[in-house]
Amino acid sequence: VAVPERTEGVVAPPRLGIVGAGQLARMLCEAASALGLDTVVLAADRDDAATSVAGTVRIGSPMDPDALRGIADDCDVLTFDHELVDLDALSSLESKGHIVRPSPSALVVAVDKAVQRRRFAAAGLPVPRFVVLDGDATADRLALVAFADEVGVPVVKAARGGYDGHGVVVASSLDEAVDAAMSWRASGTDVVAEARVEFRAELAALLARRPDGETVSWRTVRTAQVDGVCAEVCVPGGLDDSTAEDAARLAVRVAEVCGVVGVLAVELFDAPQGLVVNEVALRPHNSGHWTIEGANTSQFENHLRAVLDLPLGDTSMRAAAVTTVNVFGSGSPIDGALARALEEPTAKVHLYGKSDRPGRKLGHVTVLGDDGAEVTSRAWRAAAALGTPVPAQIGVR
Ligand SMILES: Nc1ncnc2c1ncn2[C@@H]1O[C@H](COP(=O)(O)OP(=O)(O)O)[C@@H](O)[C@H]1O
Ligand SMILES: [Mg+2]
Repeated sequence: VAVPERTEGVVAPPRLGIVGAGQLARMLCEAASALGLDTVVLAADRDDAATSVAGTVRIGSPMDPDALRGIADDCDVLTFDHELVDLDALSSLESKGHIVRPSPSALVVAVDKAVQRRRFAAAGLPVPRFVVLDGDATADRLALVAFADEVGVPVVKAARGGYDGHGVVVASSLDEAVDAAMSWRASGTDVVAEARVEFRAELAALLARRPDGETVSWRTVRTAQVDGVCAEVCVPGGLDDSTAEDAARLAVRVAEVCGVVGVLAVELFDAPQGLVVNEVALRPHNSGHWTIEGANTSQFENHLRAVLDLPLGDTSMRAAAVTTVNVFGSGSPIDGALARALEEPTAKVHLYGKSDRPGRKLGHVTVLGDDGAEVTSRAWRAAAALGTPVPAQIGVR
């Protein structure tokens, strides 16, 4: 039998660079591994969550232009675990021909909440009434007080550098808002003051978008934040189809305004005046972890597919109800906690390999099933067994 001689070499898989090496990078690397893709992460620290699963680990700061150039030279496409990055350095890499997805021109809306509010308002997207404080102390104070006269005690946000409730104060008095705003201004960041939205629920709409603008959307979820940090994500979480679809359509408009490539998460308020955009993430997001087991294609896999310009996967739900509960540290790890969590046989436990510190996000648990209340209580049982404090707002279920 004549065997045709192979003349071509094996085509090397694309090499994906990820700036940052936290849990999102870790789950991106897991999805990349299944597709046979090679990964390289830029980690600030040897112990970062993704360093044990990435193909190659480079150590460096996402704010250091040399470190960014190093990883860009070492990969085919550059993407992100978080947005605390040096945009100027990324823009210069892009202009030299490196493929950066999402592009720094899109990423700026996630890096800077003032830019985001202004860009979205200009595009006619529904955002809370806001004012940007970027003047001197006297002017800023006057502007904030005048704004509070119109909208009541505002919510204040550091324009840059915030995450997980750090950098946001839902103030209960004007003094509290002024103090927070002034201390951020003194540290050099602009501040956004905005009207407090009396929302019925917080939602998150998730999509993935290819470079040609093709998008796929997952089912809109209901999220619950405790002290500004996401505690649980319920799908569909009692959300009616028409609100869910409105949110998904709004997210597509947001994606077009941003020009995002990859996954986009849009945090929304479901308010009496309609859907209001809270903030966006141009990357996989905590509100989308349920898609790992709960959807035919996860947010991590579709992020990879989108940034590598590969066909996007089906986003349909695999069960009628899915709940994800975040696992937080208590500071005192419990002996045998994993075994106790796994006694709940439907719980899919994800631990990110991070050391236990009080309040630190250490992992998440997802449960799929037929009944929302049932999967939510199973997910909380497993998360509580792992040491997660059950907040009073959530209650013991
Ligand atoms: N304008 C607002 N009105 C009411 N609550 C708000 C407002 N902005 C933020 N919040 C509350 O604070 C939480 C954190 O704010 P967010 O802007 O999402 O910051 P982070 O980047 O920390 O997630 C939100 O999930 C919401 O619960
Ligand atoms: Mg948020």
